[in-house]
Amino acid sequence: MASSLVIVGTQWGDEGKGKVVDILAGFADVVVRFQGGSNAGHTLVVDGQDLVTHLVPSGVMHPGKRCAIGPAVVVDPELLLAEIAGLQKRGLLAEPGSLVISPRAHAVMPYHKELDAAREATRGPMRIGTTLRGIGPCLEDKAARSGIRVCDLLDSEALAERIGARLPEVNAVLAHHGREPLSESGLLLGLRDQAERLAPFVGDVCALVRSALDRGRGVLFEGAQGAMLDVDHGTYPFVTAASTVAGAALSGLGIGPGRDVGVLGIVKAYSTRVGEGPMPTELTDERGLHMQQTGGEFGATTGRPRRCGWIDLTALRYATAACGCTSICVTKLDVLRGLRPLRLAVGYTLDGQPHDGIPADAGVYGRVDPVYEELDGWDEDLSEVREKDALPQGARRYLDFVENYLDLPVDIISVGPMRSETIVIRNPLRRG
Ligand code: GDP
Ligand code: IMO
Ligand code: MG
Repeated sequence: MASSLVIVGTQWGDEGKGKVVDILAGFADVVVRFQGGSNAGHTLVVDGQDLVTHLVPSGVMHPGKRCAIGPAVVVDPELLLAEIAGLQKRGLLAEPGSLVISPRAHAVMPYHKELDAAREATRGPMRIGTTLRGIGPCLEDKAARSGIRVCDLLDSEALAERIGARLPEVNAVLAHHGREPLSESGLLLGLRDQAERLAPFVGDVCALVRSALDRGRGVLFEGAQGAMLDVDHGTYPFVTAASTVAGAALSGLGIGPGRDVGVLGIVKAYSTRVGEGPMPTELTDERGLHMQQTGGEFGATTGRPRRCGWIDLTALRYATAACGCTSICVTKLDVLRGLRPLRLAVGYTLDGQPHDGIPADAGVYGRVDPVYEELDGWDEDLSEVREKDALPQGARRYLDFVENYLDLPVDIISVGPMRSETIVIRNPLRRG
C-alpha cells in the first residue's frame, strides 16, 4: 500500500478506470490526469445516471478534492469548457481551485480534428479507428515544436504569431486531403474567447502534485486508455499517440522515480477493444455479443460498439509488467454470469508453434492463436455480493486463476457499474 496511486488501464482502454477513480478519490487529496485527452471517456454512475468525463479527472464528484490536468494531457479548449459547464450545472467544481490546468498542456486545435479525420479517411483499410478527437495530430505538433499550448492561448499576440506561422502548412496538408482551408481570423476569434474562460483555471499543476506528495497527502494519478494502446509498448501502429503506461504519470508530471507510488492495474474480466488492430481473443459469435450487450460495450466517447472477447492473460502479463502494477482491480465480473464454460488465454501459438510474449509486429500479432484454459463459470447474479468469500465458487476460481497467473493481488472486484457494487479486499490507497 502506498499513500499515492497510479490507476492505469491494462488492456485496450475502457476497463472501468473512471468508476475506480471515483471510489478511491474519497481517500485522496488530489486527482490528476497525466496523459491523453478527450479521446478518453470515463464513466461514473451518479444517482443511477451515467456521467462521462473526458478531460476533467474522475474525482470531480468529491467536493473539497482538487482535480488537476497535467502538462502531458492534450486539452481541447472547446470540449473542456463544455465539460466544465456541464459539471458546474450539477453544482460541481464550484469552489475556486477545484480544477487546475497546466499552462504547459498542449491545446487541441480545430485543425487537429480536421487532420485526424482527413488522415483516417486517406488511410482506408489501414485506418487506426481513432476517436477523431485530434489527439494524434496535436501530439505530432508537440513533437515538431509547432504546437499551441495553454500558455500561448492566454497571450493574444503570441497566439496570433504562432497560429500565423502554423496555418499555411496545415491548410496545405488539408488541401492535399481535399479539405477546405481554415480561416486565421475565425480561428483566432474562437480561441480568444475560449482562452478568457479557461484563464481562471490555469495554475502550476506539477508544484501542486509535488507539494501534496511531499506532505504525504494522497494523490491519485488517473490514467487514460490502456497499456496495449501505448505508443511504445502497444500494438503499434494501432495505438494512441502517447505513452499510456504507469511511468507516464511520473514523467508527465515531472516527478522523480524514487517516490512511494503504488500502481493499480484495472483489468476487465474479459477483453474489449474499440477501433482496429490485433485482438487475439476476439469473439465474433453469440458469446462476444453476450459480453457486448450485457456489459453495455459501446464507446463512452464515440458510441462505437466495442469488440469483445475472452480475457487475455498473456497480454495482461505483458501489460502489467510494462506498468509495474503492484496490485489489480478486476472489473465487470458480473458480465460473465451464465457464459459457461469460460475461457482464459494463457499463451499463443504462431503457425502451429508455441509463441512466447507479444510480437512487436501487429501483422504477426494478428496471426497468433490463443491457447486457452477453461473454467466452469457460474450462473448466479453477483451484483449484490460484497465479500469475496460470498462469491459463487466459479467466480472465486476465476479470480484466483487470474491472480495466480499474473502474480498480483486482486485488491478490488467490481460487480456492477455503481459505487456500491464493489468488493474492496484491500484499499490500495492508504493515507500518509
Ligand atoms: P474507462 O474508460 O476505463 O473509465 O471505462 P468506460 O467508462 O469507458 O467503460 C466502462 C463501462 O463499464 C462504463 O459504462 C461503466 O459504468 C461500466 N462498469 C464499470 N465497472 C463495471 C462493473 O463492474 N460491471 C458492469 N456491469 N459495468 C461496469
Ligand atoms: P479510455 O480512457 C478505448 C483508441 C481508439 C483507437 C486508438 C487511437 O476511455 O479508456 P486516438 O483517438 O487516441 O488517436 O485513437 O486508441 N482509444 C481508446 N479506446 N478507450 C480509450 O480511452 C481510448 N482512447 C483511444 O479507439 O483505436
Ligand atoms: Mg472509456
